[in-house]
Amino acid sequence: MNVSDSLWFKNAVFYELPVRAFSDWNGDGIGDFRGLIDKLDYLQWLGVDCLWLLPFYPSPLRDDGYDIADFRTVDPDYGSLEDFRELLDEAHSRGMRVLTDLVLNHTSDQHPWFQQSRSSPASPYRDWYVWSDDPRRFPGARVIFTDSEVSNWTWDPAANAYFWHRFYSHQPDLNFDNPEVRKAMLEVVFYWLDLGLDGFRCDAVPYLFEREGTNCENLPETHAFLQELRREVDARYHGTRVLLAEANQWPSDVVRYFGPFGGAGAAPAPEFHMAFHFPLMPRLFMAIRQEARRPIVDILAQTPAIPDNCQWGLFLRNHDELTLEMCTDEERDYMYYEYARDPRMKLNIGIRRRLAPIVDNSRREIELMNVVLFSMPGAPIVYYGDEIGMGDNIYLSDRNGVRTPMQWNVDRNGGFSKAPPERLYAPLIQNPIYSFQAVNIERQFQDTNSLLNWMRALIQLRHRNPIFGLGGISFLSPANERVLVYLRRLPKSAHRPGEGPDELPGARCVLVVANLSRNSQAVELDLSNFAGWTPYEMFGEIAFPPVTTTPYQLTLGPYGYFWFRLEAPGGQFE
Ligand code: GLC
Ligand code: CA
Repeated sequence: MNVSDSLWFKNAVFYELPVRAFSDWNGDGIGDFRGLIDKLDYLQWLGVDCLWLLPFYPSPLRDDGYDIADFRTVDPDYGSLEDFRELLDEAHSRGMRVLTDLVLNHTSDQHPWFQQSRSSPASPYRDWYVWSDDPRRFPGARVIFTDSEVSNWTWDPAANAYFWHRFYSHQPDLNFDNPEVRKAMLEVVFYWLDLGLDGFRCDAVPYLFEREGTNCENLPETHAFLQELRREVDARYHGTRVLLAEANQWPSDVVRYFGPFGGAGAAPAPEFHMAFHFPLMPRLFMAIRQEARRPIVDILAQTPAIPDNCQWGLFLRNHDELTLEMCTDEERDYMYYEYARDPRMKLNIGIRRRLAPIVDNSRREIELMNVVLFSMPGAPIVYYGDEIGMGDNIYLSDRNGVRTPMQWNVDRNGGFSKAPPERLYAPLIQNPIYSFQAVNIERQFQDTNSLLNWMRALIQLRHRNPIFGLGGISFLSPANERVLVYLRRLPKSAHRPGEGPDELPGARCVLVVANLSRNSQAVELDLSNFAGWTPYEMFGEIAFPPVTTTPYQLTLGPYGYFWFRLEAPGGQFE
C-alpha cells in the first residue's frame, strides 16, 4: 500500500497493543518501547499497517493508564520520550503507522490540574472540572462502570463539593465548557502530532459536555468541539493525520461522529475519519451461537452509509470487556447465557474474555469470525495475541485478564521478559490449553498450519484485494438461514483511494459465503445475474463451476467459508 495515500486507513489492517504487555527489553517485568521496537519486524511480517498503542502516559494505573496524570510525557516504566520517537521512526521506516490513545474526557485525580482544582474555589483551575453542591444534577446520564460506581458524582472532602465523572470516581471529567480546557487539550493533540504521530484513537468522545435534561451523550456541543478538533488537525498537518472515534453508540448515533452529512460524498464539517462499529461486534458472536445470519444482516441494514472518505473500524475483541451496551435486554441475556456462564466472566455490561476462550478454542470458529470480519466494509483491528489464539485469566481483576504478557516462545516468561516471574506486571497464562508452552508465536511461526500463519495469509489476501475496504455490500437471502452470503463490489470507475488515477488491483466482485453452523450445510444461491461468470475460490485460486441461470449449489463443512472472486466470461471484469 502506498504510504502517501491520504486515505490509507480505508484499507489498513490495524493491530492494538498495550506496550506494557508486549515485550520487556530492560528486564524489569514491564513491557517497554524498546521491547516493542524489537518486535516491529514481527508485526511487519504479519502484515500490520498501523499500530494502536494503549495509553503509556504517567498514571497511577487504576484504569490501566486511561487515568492520566500528565498528558505530555511517557511513563518512565516504558522508556523515555526519545525511545518513543525512535519507535515512531522505526515503525515509519517499515511502512507502518502509529496511533495512540487520546483521552480527552477525563484525567486521573492525581493530575496537577485536578489537585489544583480541588484545593480551593479560588484556584484558577477550579473551573477545569465539573463541580457541584448537588449530586442530583444530570440525572439522565447513565452510569457506565456499573460494577464499581453507583453515581456519576463523588464527594471530594478537599474541595467540599461533588465532582462529575463518567467512569471511575478517580477519573474526574474535564469541563469542556471552559475554553481554557478546550485549548489545553488541543495543545496536547498538537504536542503528540508534532512528534510525528499518525493520529489518535480518541477515547470516550460522546461524553465531553453535560446538559440538564439530556443523557449527556452525543450532545451538539460535543460534536461542535470535535469538528473544531478535526479542523485544527487538518489545517496544521494538511490532512495527513487520522482520528478514530471510540463512541459506543447505536449506528444512527455513531455515524454522526463522521460529521454532519446526508448520504454519499464528503461531510461539510468532518469530525472523525474512522469510528468503531460497536453494535456489529456482539452480533457476530450471537450469529454463530444462534446459527443464524439475521443478527448480522439486521444490524448492517440499520447502519447508514458513511462518507466516501471515512471508514468503520471493525473488531472482534479489544482490551475492554466484550461490551453488550448496544444490545437489547433479550440479546444481552442470550449472550451472557451462551458466553459467560461463570459470573467471573461478566464485567459491567459485558464479557471479559478473549476470542479463543469465547469460542472454546475452536479453530474453525476463530477462522470463520475473522473471515467475516475481514470481508465486511471497514478496516479490521486485531487485538494482540488473538492472532495466535491466546487465552485469558478470569481470576485477575477488572479487564486485566485479557491484558496478560504476550507469549513469544517457550523460554522463561514466554519470552516476554527476563525478570524473575514473580516480578512481572501480571502473571502469564498458566493453564495447559493456553499456556505459553502450548500457544506462542515462535511455535506457530514454524508450523505452516498454525492460526498465526493462517491469519497472515488472510491479511495478505486482504491487502491484495482493496475491494474489501472500498467496495459496496449487498446481502443475498438464500432459504438456508444458517448461511451468511454477501457480495462486495467495486464501482466500475474505482481507482486507488486518494488522488491517484491507477486502477485498483485485485478482485472487482467478491462473493462471501459463510456457514454459521456447527454442522455441514447446503445452500442454493440465486446468482442468475452472473450467468456465465466463474467463481474463483480466493485462498487457493481454485476455479469453481461457472454460474448458470439455475440456482448455484454449494455445500459447506462446519463453520466453512468461501471467498469467491467472480470473473466475467473471458476473464474480463464486466
Ligand atoms: C474507554 C477505554 C477503557 C477505559 C475508559 C475510561 O472506554 O476503552 O479501557 O476504561 O475509556 O477511560
Ligand atoms: Ca521494561
